[in-house]
Amino acid sequence: MPAESEGANAREGTGGPRTSIRPATPGDFPAIERIYHRAYRGLEPYAYESHWTPEEREKYTREYLSWAYEEEPEGFFVLEADGEVVGFVSVHTWGEGRARRAEIIEIAVDPDYQRHGLGRLLLDHAEQYAKSKGCAKIQLWVGSGNRRALEIYKKRGYREDSRYERWTKMLKDL
Ligand SMILES: CC(C)(COP(=O)(O)OP(=O)(O)OC[C@H]1O[C@@H](n2cnc3c(N)ncnc32)[C@H](O)[C@@H]1OP(=O)(O)O)[C@@H](O)C(=O)NCCC(=O)NCCS
Repeated sequence: MPAESEGANAREGTGGPRTSIRPATPGDFPAIERIYHRAYRGLEPYAYESHWTPEEREKYTREYLSWAYEEEPEGFFVLEADGEVVGFVSVHTWGEGRARRAEIIEIAVDPDYQRHGLGRLLLDHAEQYAKSKGCAKIQLWVGSGNRRALEIYKKRGYREDSRYERWTKMLKDL
């Protein structure tokens, strides 16, 4: 799998931004954190604990995203549109042989760039990465009321596997 996917518009013929996906670097994290906070507006129960102060939201988000990166740096990708980071995805892989599995830890696209197929590009890239790491399945946990994200996953072949508290686990065979 190429480390970078280059070039095509997200939706053919729409004249949308030129996009590319590349591995994240530590210098991308201010943009990644900003995208996370912006993308989860209106979905706060799935991004923060309700009792957190604004400072705690900043702090714990930074820790969470750093953890996602440090656990598997090569599985953390950013999407650039016209040279600016506007989305990201983090994938972790584990296990051996047929039990080898991937999980999308986080995926987000800046609201100004949503609904142009960029989330789909990031999902495709995450799945290609998981396959290149020998994973036969990919899973993720999504907020059970996050209807937009749930629809996207269902359209792309993920099925509901189980529920835990306010989360739904989705699973796809690769
Ligand atoms: C989930 C998220 C990453 C999707 O990003 P996105 O860039 O909006 O996704 P896409 O544009 O690829 O949209 C996928 C689907 O949305 C719909 N869509 C996209 N553009 C559309 C448009 N112009 N008109 C109508 N529907 C559209 C389509 O159903 C599309 O499916 P398709 O690829 O089969 O056509 C984004 O909504 C987000 O950041 N959400 C907040 C964070 C979050 O919930 N993350 C998930 C955690 S599990």
